[in-house]
Amino acid sequence: MATLFKNIKELIQVRREPISFVSGKAMSELPTIKNAFLVVDNGLISDFGNMEDCPKTGFSEVIDATGRMVLPSWCDSHTHIVYAGNREDEFVDRIKGLSYEAIAANGGGILNSAKKLQETSEDALYQQSRQRLEAVIQLGTGAIEIKSGYGLTVDAELKMLRVIKRLKETYPLAVKATFLGAHALPLEYKENKEGYLRLLIDEALPKIAEENLAEYIDIFCETGYFSVEDTALILEAGKKYGLIPKIHVNQFTAIGGVQVGVKYQALSVDHLEVMRDEDIKALKNTNTMPVALPSCSYFLSIPYTPAREMIHAGLPLALATDYNPGSTPSGNMNFVISTACIKMKMTPEEAINAATVNGAYAMGLEDQVGSITIGKQANLILTKQINSYGFIPYSFGTNQIEKVYLKGQEIICHSERSEESQAERSEESQGH
Ligand code: NIG
Ligand code: FE
Repeated sequence: MATLFKNIKELIQVRREPISFVSGKAMSELPTIKNAFLVVDNGLISDFGNMEDCPKTGFSEVIDATGRMVLPSWCDSHTHIVYAGNREDEFVDRIKGLSYEAIAANGGGILNSAKKLQETSEDALYQQSRQRLEAVIQLGTGAIEIKSGYGLTVDAELKMLRVIKRLKETYPLAVKATFLGAHALPLEYKENKEGYLRLLIDEALPKIAEENLAEYIDIFCETGYFSVEDTALILEAGKKYGLIPKIHVNQFTAIGGVQVGVKYQALSVDHLEVMRDEDIKALKNTNTMPVALPSCSYFLSIPYTPAREMIHAGLPLALATDYNPGSTPSGNMNFVISTACIKMKMTPEEAINAATVNGAYAMGLEDQVGSITIGKQANLILTKQINSYGFIPYSFGTNQIEKVYLKGQEIICHSERSEESQAERSEESQGH
């Protein structure tokens, strides 16, 4: 039976005709219906419109949304939420003046997380990761991409990908998996990058394909990590197994990562804090989605992706969290949207488009999520009583979400559950 949301103050991101993504000027258009209704049937959006046309009967549940807005859930197309432990010690080192690069050069950074992850059992890793996933669901995320890349051995990379698979099978939201074996060079391969790349290509990739553990392939294309040539080699190898590129480029330096991504028809190129004119030009009229990660810029105090120049050039832009223990220990898409408005000068309309339809495209999920369209998953955010959707980015650091729904089901916040039911849930998931 169907659920009716009635008296919605404003229904946001309404797309009657499905769209793949929005770019350039179109990013500033955010279609809405004021005083709206929405019907959910069998987990999918089945009808919506103005309250004047609201159907009267045939519902098993009616939710009165008076004063509240409804939006499609955030689509977070770039995360690393499967990791072990944290890196608070490096946080303090950075406060005291060490750079992210200097910490990595001293054996910290990604290698530090890899060591912790290698020593953590698959089940313990799952337990840590599911808590992060549950927390971001409560913050309005309704589709997510998760990368490997803190294993850096064949076994540990497979362990990460199996945890992602288990999350995918357990939670009612779309989860996409990305193989990021080429995230950093492990110490044992310090003088043998070629050997590590061969290990990824000859040993890891066939196993990942055999167990169907990933949809996407990623590499950290950056000075001091992996070169443009390494990127081409990895993307080429991934392609043989049907893995589509989604890559880390132009975070600290511009070395041609955008161009190699476009050449290999990457679904997205992510970070883009350092963009030359030629990088912007390379993305024009392509199917590659540029993805900005403003929480990373915030946390590391590095430049923000030049959104205004990119949108002015007619490009699309997606926003994602980059949730990871090193550069962005936060999975809060609401903060991402605020920061995009405040620091990147995106308007609320542009930021919401970037975090919904464009984010969905950057995960290959544009047919399933990211807008209020008949037939899409009813992954929804019901806001608190607010005056305008611009209040969401304006009131940065404050959660304006009252309830979240995945496939039409309300997802109850952990903190609202009794301790008993939390314990039951944890037993259930351990027995999974
Ligand atoms: O996207 N830049 C590369 N990878 C991650 C950070 C990795 C880490 O520091 O643990 C990122 O920012
Ligand atoms: Fe990342």
